[in-house]
Formats: sequence, structure tokens, C-alpha cells
Amino acid sequence: MAVFMAVFGVVLIGLCICTALLRWNEVRYRKKGLPPGTMGWPVFGETTEFLKQGPSFMKNQRARYGKFFKSHLLGCPTTVSMDPELNRYILMNEAKGLVPGYPQSMLDILGKCNIAAVHGSTHKYMRGALLALISPTMIRGQLLPKIDEFMRSHLNKWDTKIINIQEKTKEMALLSSLKQIAGIESGTISKEFMPEFFKLVLGTISLPIDLPGTNYRRGFQARKNIVGMLRQLIEERKASQETHNDMLGCLMRTNENRYKLSDEEIIDLIITILYSGYETVSTTSMMAVKYLHDHPRVLDELRKEHLAIRERKRPEDPIDWNDYKLMRFTRAVIFETSRLATIVNGVLRKTTKDMELNGFVIPKGWRIYVYTREINYDPLLYPDPLAFNPWRWLDKSLESQNYFLLFGGGTRQCPGKELGIAEISTFLHYFVTRYRWEEVGGDKLMKFPRVEAPNGLHIRVSAY
Ligand code: HEM
Repeated sequence: MAVFMAVFGVVLIGLCICTALLRWNEVRYRKKGLPPGTMGWPVFGETTEFLKQGPSFMKNQRARYGKFFKSHLLGCPTTVSMDPELNRYILMNEAKGLVPGYPQSMLDILGKCNIAAVHGSTHKYMRGALLALISPTMIRGQLLPKIDEFMRSHLNKWDTKIINIQEKTKEMALLSSLKQIAGIESGTISKEFMPEFFKLVLGTISLPIDLPGTNYRRGFQARKNIVGMLRQLIEERKASQETHNDMLGCLMRTNENRYKLSDEEIIDLIITILYSGYETVSTTSMMAVKYLHDHPRVLDELRKEHLAIRERKRPEDPIDWNDYKLMRFTRAVIFETSRLATIVNGVLRKTTKDMELNGFVIPKGWRIYVYTREINYDPLLYPDPLAFNPWRWLDKSLESQNYFLLFGGGTRQCPGKELGIAEISTFLHYFVTRYRWEEVGGDKLMKFPRVEAPNGLHIRVSAY
């Protein structure tokens, strides 16, 4: 009995402390003018609930507090916006003090000149320099031939093998970018580069704890190694005086280029390109393979489109811009994959001053999570939203709707949209014209907070 009473007492005291802490944290944030919502635990906020319950946490909070509510997520007081009109306003009004609000680890590891870290005129300049490298003219003349050459060799000899398509699409996204950036082939330098890059990516999504053995410390070290490799490449090119028809070559030809960047800016821009296209392109490609496997009618239609393109060409002829423009159904498959899988849940902003939004006052330094996921499943915008139906995208107007935010919106809308679609389309071209495949089965897919297959997605491939 005494033991029971003691345990009961401890539990009761524990409960009282917890309630007091929760209450204290709510009172702390009960400033006039803040949106409704709960703040959870001191320091941790509601991060655990958010990560565990994922989309249903957001939907529950929306049901209780409306489309604009406060919370405390991933270490920061945050307002979540699920209001389409307000989302547009936030994305369009960086100049009013709504700047990118990505985590500190990401900013530290991607470098101080990376696009998410710069604002105002510096952002305009860096973005201009990037757009000049990946414009439709550049894709047509310089990038597509490189992408084609890369995909042909990357997708070589997969038949009769069991392939982890998650791993292959990740390698593809990175190596294809390295080829476009510096003509780097899948040789020694890319073998050195790849593990460092993977560590860098992991570092950007970890807590900024600078201690030995943490992912943050490893990511930061990986950045140093990558910067070293890129610096060496730049020095070698300066010494050789050769001209190179790749992104680095363009960035270094300062006499012809409107945008003149320092070596440090060039390196951070290259890391930005590698990083921004990596997870988005690889995950969309993997999920397209998954959905195509599960929807044979879509696969038939897609294959028809690609076989028709191939029929007019010799086997050695590369995919060119005109072919790419004919891939209308492929584009629809990519959008539908991106929508249904929700590759990007939303984007982060932060306030640079106290700011009124929707009648509430958001304090300086708060994060704003422009949470776009639920738009993808709105039956009014996408009838039968849980069906994988690429045909809906053949109505081109869908791509130009205000609520179309698969590639973000406003001043930071994805500059790599067309390049990403061109890469995935070329990958699908060689994949479906060369192979058929079936899933080995048993692999788990996680949809939140990131789309990933924790143990890989394995497929058995045979020749088509
Ligand atoms: C399917 C592929 C892709 C998807 C779904 C995607 C999605 C997005 C989204 C949602 C944003 C907005 C981020 C924000 O507002 O904070 C964004 C920005 C960005 N994307 Fe992409 N992206 C893709 C491919 C690429 C590629 C291939 C590149 C390579 C150049 C790229 C480079 C960037 C950059 C540099 C930004 C930041 C732009 C700025 O801050 O001005 N993306 N992307």
C-alpha cells in the first residue's frame, strides 16, 4: 500500500508539473493579437505531435482554430497558414518583411551566399545569375544533350537485375547535375563527391548541435570538403585557360556574363543548384515509377508517347527540345505524381518585424509555415483527389491556376521547374522504352515529413 501511495504521489506531482508547464507556455504566448492555437511544451512545443501525426495534426488544428493558427514547431514559435489567399499574399510580399525562414542548420551548411540566405537586391542578383544558367535556351542548347547522354548511360544494363530505384534516382539527380555543372562524369571525382554530398544533405535537416558525431558537425565538415573540391576545380580551370561549355564555364566567363560572381558566390550557387534539385527530382522520379507500376493504364499511355518519339529517331539520336515539347502526357504524369505524393509539404518564411496578417499580429522573428499540402487533396480543385489521374493535367490551364503551388509561388517560385521536368522526362523516356518492371514487394513507403522508402524501393527489371 505504501509503495502504491508513493508511486501515486510521484505520478500526481509529475502530472501537476506537466500541466503547470503547459499552462505557463500558453500564458507566455497569450499576447494580444496572436492567432488562436496551442504552443505545447516549453522548448519542444508541438514538434512531436506534428512529426508523429503529420498531416492529421495540421487538419485537426485547422478544424479547431481555423486556417491560420499558432503553434511551436521544430524549435520556433510558428504560425501555420492553410489559407490559399493568405498563402499567395505571403509568397508575393517578401519585400514587406516575409523572408525565407529555413532552419539554421540549412543556412549554415549551404553557405551565406546561397539563395535561401539572401534577400532583396542580392537575392535578385543571385537568382538572375541562376536563371541565366537554366533558361529554356540553355536547356535546349546545352543542358538537354548532357542530360540525355547521362540518362542513357545511367539506365544501361538494368535488365535481369533487382534495382533499388530510390538509390538509383538519388544518384541520378546528383550525377546528372554534376555533369551539367562541371562536365563531371561518373568517375573518381563524383565517387568522392557523392558521400560528402549525402552527409551535407543530412546535416541540413538536423538540429544545429555542433558536437563530435552529430549529423550537423558531419554536414558542416562535408561542406568544407565539397567547397575544397569545387575550389580546386575552379583553380585548375583558371590555370588551364580552356573554355568549358557547362554551368561552371558560364559562371567563370566573367567578360561575357552579365552576372559577375566571386569564387565564393559561384561555389554557393553550385551547392544551391545541387541541393535544390536533388531531393525534389529524385523523389518525384521514384514516386512516378511507383505510381506507374500501380496504374498500368497510365503506363501504357506514357509508353505510347515515348515509343512514338523513339520511332522517328535512330537509336543513337538524343532526345532534343522538340521531343521534350511533345511529352505532354509525361508532364502530366510528373505533375500528378508531385500532387498525389506531395513531394513538398510547404515552404517556410519568417517575419523581419511585427506584422499584421489576416487581422492578427505576428511578432518579429516568428516563422510562418505556408502549408500547401492540403491544396493537393481539395476535391473542388482536383475532383476525386486520391485517384492517380494524370489526364486531369492535360487541361493546361490547371498549371497556371493561382492555387498551383507545387513549385512554390511569388518571388521565390522554383527557377528549376523546367529543368527538373526535363530531367525526369528524359529519365522516364529511357526507363519505359527500355524496361518493364515489377516491385519485389514488402518495401515500406513513408509519406511524411518526407516522402521516402526507409529501406529502399526494390524492383525486378527486365528488357521491354
Ligand atoms: C520536381 C522538381 C522540383 C520541385 C518540386 C521543386 C520545388 C520547389 C519549391 C516548392 C520551391 C519554393 C521554395 C520557397 O519558396 O521557399 C523551390 C525553389 C527553388 N528551387 Fe526548385 N523544385 C524542383 C526542382 C529544382 C531544380 C532541378 C533546381 C535546380 C536548379 C531547383 C532550384 C530551386 C532554387 C534555387 C529555389 C530557390 C529559389 C529562390 O529562393 O529564389 N529546383 N523549388
